[in-house]
Amino acid sequence: MKTYRIALIPGDGIGQEVAPQGVRILEAAAAGAFALSFESFPWGCAYYLKHGRMISEDALERLKGFDAIYFGAVGFPGVPDHVSLRGLRLPICQGFDQYVCLRPSLLLPGVKSPLAHKKPGEIDFVVVRENTEGEYSGAGGRSHRGLPEDVAVETSVFTKTGVQRIVRYAFRLAQSRRKKLVSATKSNAQQHSMTFWDEIVDGVAPEFPDVAVDRVLIDALAARFVMKPESLDVVVASNLFGDILTDLGAAVVGGLGLAPSGNIDPERRRPSMFEPVHGSAPDIAGKGVANPIAMVWCGAMMLDFLGEKTAGARILDAIKAVTAEGRVLTPDLGGTATTVRVADEILARLKG
Ligand code: NAI
Ligand code: MG
Repeated sequence: MKTYRIALIPGDGIGQEVAPQGVRILEAAAAGAFALSFESFPWGCAYYLKHGRMISEDALERLKGFDAIYFGAVGFPGVPDHVSLRGLRLPICQGFDQYVCLRPSLLLPGVKSPLAHKKPGEIDFVVVRENTEGEYSGAGGRSHRGLPEDVAVETSVFTKTGVQRIVRYAFRLAQSRRKKLVSATKSNAQQHSMTFWDEIVDGVAPEFPDVAVDRVLIDALAARFVMKPESLDVVVASNLFGDILTDLGAAVVGGLGLAPSGNIDPERRRPSMFEPVHGSAPDIAGKGVANPIAMVWCGAMMLDFLGEKTAGARILDAIKAVTAEGRVLTPDLGGTATTVRVADEILARLKG
C-alpha cells in the first residue's frame, strides 16, 4: 500500500484545534486505499519564546523529504506578527519555492453568502497568488530609527521568471476550468512593476489562445469580487494583491472558516504545503469553536495534489453534505457546534 509521509505543523492558536481534526478526517479518507504517516513538529510562537526561533535551524532539511506539509496557522499575541510570519510560513514557502498559492472560493450548499441571493456554486473561482517574490520579497530597510528622519523602504521585487511561471500556471488552470482569466494589476500607478507584470501576461497569452484574459485594476477588482463574483473563474495576482483579495474571496463565500489554500511547487521538487487562509484567531482560540472546515478542505486539496483524487473529492463531498444540512455548524456560520462536533459530523458523512 502506498504511504505518504506528511509533516504536520499545527502552529498557534486555533491551528492547534483544527489541525488534529483535519488529521482524523484524512486518516478516515485514506482507510484501506493508501496510508498517511504523520510526523508532528512543535514550531510556532511557543517554540519561539523558548528557543528564539519560530522553526528549528534544520527545519527545511527535515521537511524536504516529506510528500507534503499540513499546516494550521501561526501568530500569537506576545510575538510580533512579522516575526512569526517571516519566521515560519515564509521560509518554507520561499525556501521550497512553493511559487503558487492556490486559493479557491466556492459557495457551498447551505452556506449563506453575505451577498444577497447567491446560490450554491454560483460563486466559484480560484485565486492564483504569486507566492515567492513581489511585495513579500523582504527587500528594504529602515534607518534613523527613533529620530525625526525615521525612514522605511520596502521594495517589491518582480522577476521575469517569477511572473512568467505564475501567469502560465494560472492560464493552464483556466484551461481546465471555464477558460477565463483575470489578471490583477495596478499599472496606472505602479509604472515599473505592474506594467512589467502586464507585459508578461500579454506575452504569455498567445500560448493559450482558448483562454480569454482580462486585465483589471486591483481596486476595481476588489469591487468586482463583491458586485459580480460569478463573473470570475481564475484570477492571477501578485503576492500582496492575492493575499488581500483572498480574504475578500473567503468573505463572499461565508468567511475565513471555509477558505482553504495550498502553497504549491508545481514541479514537485520539494513538498507543497496546505494551510487554511485564516490565521490563528486569538480572539476565539482555546474555546473549541473554530470552524474546522477550512483545515479539512486543505486536506482534500493535499490528497488531490498527491494524486489521491477520489479520496480528496470524498472529503469535499462530506463537507458539502454537512453544510447543506446546516444542522451542525460552528458559530461563525450561525451554529452552536464545537470544532470537534463538526469534524465528527464530516467524519460520519465520510464513512456513511
Ligand atoms: P485570523 O484569520 O486569525 O482571524 C480573523 C477573524 O476571522 C477573527 O475574528 C477570527 O475569529 C475569524 N476566524 C478565522 N478563522 C476562523 C475559523 N476557522 N473559524 C471561525 N472563525 C475564524 O486573522 P487575524 O486576526 O488578522 O490574525 C491573527 C493572527 O494570525 C496574527 O498573528 C496573524 O499574523 C496570524 N495570521 C497567520 C496566517 C497564517 O498562518 N498563514 C494568516 C493570517 C494571519
Ligand atoms: Mg492573508
